[in-house]
Amino acid sequence: MAVTEQSGVPASVARRRFYVGMIYGLWSLIASALSIPAAIYLLIPPKLRRLPEWAEAGDVSKLEPRAPVEMVFRQNRVDGWKIQSEKTTAWVVKLGDSQVVAYGPQCTHLGCAYRWDDDRNYFLCPCHTSVFSVDGAVVSGPAPRPLDRYEIKLENGRLLLGELHQSKEKA
Ligand code: FES
Repeated sequence: MAVTEQSGVPASVARRRFYVGMIYGLWSLIASALSIPAAIYLLIPPKLRRLPEWAEAGDVSKLEPRAPVEMVFRQNRVDGWKIQSEKTTAWVVKLGDSQVVAYGPQCTHLGCAYRWDDDRNYFLCPCHTSVFSVDGAVVSGPAPRPLDRYEIKLENGRLLLGELHQSKEKA
């Protein structure tokens, strides 16, 4: 039986120890490769993982005061592991010289799409006839709260939209 020079351990035992060590090393490598992403997914809330994103909605320099315009834009949505790009809209209104607001496209009652009525100067929801004023407040109908608003940023006349914030219940 061959004996290694330094340790006095037979070569076959040393070789076996080496292979066992290699196998344990590979196992721990595979276990870490599987468990680290799983731990990040389970322990870190999705909101912290998501970078704040701004979507460009369009040019607001030519908006007429208090005349809402529906703007179409693309937004990324995180769905579990997937990030989906989807088309959505915002109703954008210039309320004052430097005040622009962007409302979410869904009625705050049951989520129907509402529209701006030029003749009546109100947002109207066809589903259960909720009516909202140009500043998003509920005028009548079953809607429990004003229109939701996007976080906005203006850069050289371009409107950037961030997260949609749910409005508070009307008093
Ligand atoms: S969904 Fe708009 S009034 Fe019901």
